[in-house]
Amino acid sequence: MAEIGKSISKAKDFLINNHLVAMPTETVYGLAANALNPDAVAKIFEAKERPTFDPLIVHTFSINQLPHFVSEIHPSLLKLAENFWPGPLTLLLPKKQTIPDIVTSGLSRVGVRIPNHPVALDLLSQLDFPLAAPSANPFGYISPTTAEHVRKQLGGRIAYILDGGHCDVGLESTIVGEENDTIVVYRLGGLSIDDIESVVGKVSIQLNQSSNPLAPGQLKSHYAPKKPLLIGQLSLLKDAYAGKKIGAIVFGYPEKDNSDVLMKELSLLKNYSEAAVNLFSFLRELDESDVDVIIAELLPEQGLGLAINDRLKRAACK
Ligand code: TXA
Ligand code: MG
Repeated sequence: MAEIGKSISKAKDFLINNHLVAMPTETVYGLAANALNPDAVAKIFEAKERPTFDPLIVHTFSINQLPHFVSEIHPSLLKLAENFWPGPLTLLLPKKQTIPDIVTSGLSRVGVRIPNHPVALDLLSQLDFPLAAPSANPFGYISPTTAEHVRKQLGGRIAYILDGGHCDVGLESTIVGEENDTIVVYRLGGLSIDDIESVVGKVSIQLNQSSNPLAPGQLKSHYAPKKPLLIGQLSLLKDAYAGKKIGAIVFGYPEKDNSDVLMKELSLLKNYSEAAVNLFSFLRELDESDVDVIIAELLPEQGLGLAINDRLKRAACK
């Protein structure tokens, strides 16, 4: 079973020796390996049981590092990088040969991100290679937002879990690229569309690209608990499950008394950031509880509500 600890030097030693280390970021915990070493990267796919057609994000600590692994950066993407890095933003950029094909699943662009977490930045700046890191969960399951989440599911398969506390954002990064001078969002995430558009103007949103080789990781079913998850209004769906134990995820105060339901309120004051932080933990808690079915109400489609709804819909899709 992997040790959970706070030692950056231990994490560093394992990574230098091509082992896997779980690292905290502000979005979710990542399962990290030396991005420049194909054998180390292969261990990530193995541990997560992830198909190799699903490319990995490369993490670094400074924009100055980009020229080592990308050949150019579109001016609008550079603006986004300057405004939002370190932060929950991944940019798809034309890759140089230094990035092995296994990282990008053979695609010509590599996803790059500078995470906004002091522990991750400290670790990355002490290494002379970037870190490839997907979310540290078994493929298709809910992403981890604490070190304990990682240990429970992947603890037997990785060398070390670097503990950086609970993730502050709680949703994966927003993935952005450029096609023919249009800025394209491929995955909704912790950086809102409004924030992106405030810097580069109107963007094109292209989600659910599972059949499109540009973003093979955008699978329709993802982030899924083991228990059935239904999307809809609790007061309506509840009756259909009379006799079953129900767990529910709602945004603010529930409409009625629901003492017969295991309630999880994402944010009593309807704060979207707080809701994002709680989302994956609550899904896990309900999945691990004795409820038979989970009902989730969608949030208003604004700000981070868009990304939270995206996760809920994928989690509900089996
Ligand atoms: O916040 C995050 O992004 C977290 C933390 C650990 O950084 N990472 C994360 O990685 O969510 P992962 O592997 O769970 O999701 C990465 C997704 C892939 O499934 C794929 O959709 C997209 O990023 N992606 C990565 N590289 C890509 C590429 N070269 N072209 C198209 N899509 C890419
Ligand atoms: Mg993931």
